[in-house]
Amino acid sequence: MGVIKKIAILPGDGIGPEVTVEAKKVLDAIAEKYGHQFDYSYGDVGAIAIDKTGNPLPDETLAICEESDAFLFGAIGHPKYDNDPSAKVRPEQGLLKLRKSLGLFANIRPVIAYDSLIEMSPLKADRIRGVDFVVYRELTGGIYFGDKGRTAEGAYDHCVYSNNEIDRITHLAFKAAMIRKRKVTLVDKANVLETSRLWRERVNMIAKEYPEITLDAMFVDNAAMQIIQNPKQFDVILTENMFGDIISDEASVIGGSMGLLPSASIGEKIGMFEPIHGSYPQAAGQNIANPIAAILSVGMLLDYLGLKQEAMDVRLAVKSSLENSMVTKDLSDQNGYGTDRVGDYIVNYILDEMEIHSQSNIEIGLSTII
Ligand code: IPM
Ligand code: MN
Repeated sequence: MGVIKKIAILPGDGIGPEVTVEAKKVLDAIAEKYGHQFDYSYGDVGAIAIDKTGNPLPDETLAICEESDAFLFGAIGHPKYDNDPSAKVRPEQGLLKLRKSLGLFANIRPVIAYDSLIEMSPLKADRIRGVDFVVYRELTGGIYFGDKGRTAEGAYDHCVYSNNEIDRITHLAFKAAMIRKRKVTLVDKANVLETSRLWRERVNMIAKEYPEITLDAMFVDNAAMQIIQNPKQFDVILTENMFGDIISDEASVIGGSMGLLPSASIGEKIGMFEPIHGSYPQAAGQNIANPIAAILSVGMLLDYLGLKQEAMDVRLAVKSSLENSMVTKDLSDQNGYGTDRVGDYIVNYILDEMEIHSQSNIEIGLSTII
């Protein structure tokens, strides 16, 4: 029996619209194959929303998201704001408000080194072969959301965490580790920051409820080094908002391209799914953007909706495109294929070839993320 789900799509800026077109094609293919019905609605966010309405997150967009079961987010950002620190209204505010308003407190970013792409990574093959970890980044607290402002002498950004904000994501991270390699690494700066000391206290306490899990803690500066030097040691990395922002970009080089990494932001009620890459304005409209991060975000969305086999179909199709070099130029020695062509390949694979390949489900070890 097929299901009926409401899915909102927020294409955003730069390459966001192009990659979300491919992501939607994949959703359509899944709907067709399994007899599901996905009802789509669209909303503006980011610079495009500022241009149209003066607001990076119009109320209408927020309402569309609230009414959905899950939504896809493309990317936001435009150079005209990056180069203007005095701009009062910024595209990023749309994303931050979306996270806060919808209570999306956990950002989940899987990092996988695909065998077929090992040579693409700037890191040595023996260091990264077999890397498979996931970052659980707290998303609605910390320095991003504390009081900020200017004084006569300077400026400040307060970093604030409540016990509850730490506890709820910690439980999610431990639960994820239970169905993975049962290891959690807390990344903090407890030698300096009071909020980090609170994180250690709360996480150590919660760890007692999960005796099967090995917990270790690492200062963020050391973690930044370890992610490059010995990334295989990680299973679930649990961290606060800004550290998670930084180390997840760093971790993206392991996979060989930032264009590969999906993410899920979940919390109280609705799930948001987005590539971790930005709006990459230089590439917009050229049909060269890598759609795989957006497509793997569809995989995470399907998992979130409980459509596990469907999610696996998406991951297998992506794996096949990587193995057969059906990839955009960021992953290709030659010119690579267009964004739309890579999407077409993945769609065709899902619709035509799944039965033949479903045996390889087990081998690829792409574990269920949420
Ligand atoms: C991310 C982005 C955002 C963040 C920006 C666009 C506000 O870098 O999702 O990682 O810093 O959280
Ligand atoms: Mn970031």
